[in-house]
Amino acid sequence: MKKTLLTTLSLCLAMVSGFAQENFSIDSLMAKMTLEEKIGQMNQLVGNILTGSISNSGIKAKISAGQVGSILNARGESVAALQKIAVEQTRLGIPLVFGLDVIHGYETCFPIPLAMASSWNLETITEACQVAGQEASRDGIAWTFTPMCDIARDPRWGRIAEGAGEDPYLGGEIAAAQVRGFQGNLDKPTDIAACVKHFALYGAPQAGRDYYTVDMSRQQMFNEYLWPYHAAVKAGALTAMSSFNEFESLPLTCHKYMLQTVLRDIMGFQGMLVTDYAAIREILQHGAAADLKEASVRSANAGVDMDMVAEGFSTTLADAVREGLVDEAIVDRACRRVLELKKKLGLFENPYKYNRPEELELNGSAQNRAVARKMGAQSIVLLKNESEVLPLAPGKKIAVVGPLADLSMEMIGCWAVRPQNHRPVTLLQGLQQRFGAENVKFARGCHVLENEALENQISFHDRKDRGWDIPSDKLRKEALSIAKKSDVIVAAMGELAEMSGEGSSRADITIPEPQRGLLKELVATGKPVVLVVMSGRPLILDWEDENVDGIVYAWHLGSEAGNAIADVLSGDVNPSGRLTVSFPRCVGQIPIHYNHKNTGRPAGDFQPYKKYISLYQDVVNAPLYPFGYGLSYGKVEYSDLKLSSAKAAVGDKLSVSVKLKNPSERDITETVQLYIRDKVGSITRPVKELKGFRQVCVKAGSEMTVELELDSAKLGFYNSELQYVVEPGEFDVMVGPSSDSRSLLRSSFVLE
Ligand code: GLC
Repeated sequence: MKKTLLTTLSLCLAMVSGFAQENFSIDSLMAKMTLEEKIGQMNQLVGNILTGSISNSGIKAKISAGQVGSILNARGESVAALQKIAVEQTRLGIPLVFGLDVIHGYETCFPIPLAMASSWNLETITEACQVAGQEASRDGIAWTFTPMCDIARDPRWGRIAEGAGEDPYLGGEIAAAQVRGFQGNLDKPTDIAACVKHFALYGAPQAGRDYYTVDMSRQQMFNEYLWPYHAAVKAGALTAMSSFNEFESLPLTCHKYMLQTVLRDIMGFQGMLVTDYAAIREILQHGAAADLKEASVRSANAGVDMDMVAEGFSTTLADAVREGLVDEAIVDRACRRVLELKKKLGLFENPYKYNRPEELELNGSAQNRAVARKMGAQSIVLLKNESEVLPLAPGKKIAVVGPLADLSMEMIGCWAVRPQNHRPVTLLQGLQQRFGAENVKFARGCHVLENEALENQISFHDRKDRGWDIPSDKLRKEALSIAKKSDVIVAAMGELAEMSGEGSSRADITIPEPQRGLLKELVATGKPVVLVVMSGRPLILDWEDENVDGIVYAWHLGSEAGNAIADVLSGDVNPSGRLTVSFPRCVGQIPIHYNHKNTGRPAGDFQPYKKYISLYQDVVNAPLYPFGYGLSYGKVEYSDLKLSSAKAAVGDKLSVSVKLKNPSERDITETVQLYIRDKVGSITRPVKELKGFRQVCVKAGSEMTVELELDSAKLGFYNSELQYVVEPGEFDVMVGPSSDSRSLLRSSFVLE
């Protein structure tokens, strides 16, 4: 009651402040602002991400002096308290906008974005983002730094976990679905601002090392990397974020061509651009500025509107303007964009709109967890099911072995914000609930990593529960003992949550020892083994693919991990996940992606070694598991691929139809994928490009015809002059269950 009264009182104060009037205009407000106050709006400071509070009194002083426009990482009551300072103690009473990384959930933790992408289910992805935004909006958050739109083709890069994988078209569809989920129509207090990040090309660091150099041609950038950012802009994202990396030997944070010409002039972005965390200060590390003032001048002149945490703008820009290094019009433009963001979010009418403590009890609700469970099950990818070891039949004696079977907080993945209030369901709990505790025996079997210090350096979750007080040989002995008495072994192995995500690149991406060694001993028992992999990235599974009966990729699925996995292992849910990133056979194949070029000496995906063509002496070109791949219980048969015409004019839309048959006894959710190949272009074109997909339920024993639309306007590309062109010529059309050429039906048409 007290809190509601506070909110009402604050609202009254806001009304008095004059911003609540209908005719409030940003022009009139800016006319009153001093240069320092305008620069203050361009300044974002940071709270404690764990507590959500601001302990630093200096920040409060800066807020009351009108030197702060936004706060990162504050939550709950500290947001209300800081907003009160901004609204009541500053000269103009301009409210703050509070931002936070609500990447895959707030209190209800959803699967990591790479897992959600594997569902190919845009509706569920939007629903998950809606729930995440609703929960965050109750706790003071008006702005999330999502969607991450970085195309990634290198699983050594830990942040592959945060994106949608390797494909431009699918990445764009998913980014737009996330923007819709968080922003809605911006007409509800649960709608929060989205952010197109990390602009740009952050997912292409050389050697897969985070923050490392990015270098590519502008053709490759435009044709293979920019579309997801552009799609998020088209979806109406209110903000964008410049990335840490350099491109063309310029840090993106001061790259005027990228931030002005590409993002604004070509893509039409009109929102507010914030830097990544202290990225202005990092320009000094890059060696592209001698001091913070030079870095700030370069960033402001390149088009950055808000400085995240570096305090470069707030400490140097006023002098820079007075010295003529930055035109005051640049400051006016940036300040206006910040104020427009706040106005679109309704913060001037009600600065406490996102403080609804009375609603917090709705966070983590059973309803929200049900969405997480559905999202989780749809995100799981079945990679192997030898002799139909899955689904597990009721009554089976199941041995659950592996260190990730009961580490609850490791299921939250790399960007979870508040899951401690709602501990995730573990795989062990999920299986016990589904199959009965009497049928499910557990043994940890080994630790996640070779030594405790390394594990504790990587993860602070559940340290006491990781079994370091038990000798390794005892762990192993227990595991083999229950394994030998079981009908089937479910091995839960992979990565800790923090082994992927930011600053978490790995050069060896196999399942870490001692887990892999234990897996080999489990296989040696001769019992059927189902490997459930929890990971934030594709791992190298060459040995596992050869020797394990079933492989289920369960990523890091969040609050309902154990139940979602049990839903699939039991067959209650028929797995429908399909990979959005290629799984390499070995690190030597990286970067590996399906939409590669043909080269002048092409070699087939499975071509045995032959000199003087483009392949390796020691491994085939094909990935272990290709983009778009995933199994279900039962298999859909494709036939009768038909095009509505063998010829089309530029601008025409072709209809592509294919017949599906499901001879199995289970309904199958099938993702029909449509690829094209532009046979000849003024520049070389990929051997395959995803241009459409449809997810349909093919009822058990039924047949159906699915139609997809192929818009010839989407067959274009950026040519040598960086002009977007659609060139006439012959196009292959391929339709099937994955990008594996062996599974695709083919046809063709001529664009005139
Ligand atoms: C981080 C990340 C970015 C995040 C930002 C704010 O370093 O690079 O994705 O949104 O800082 O936390």
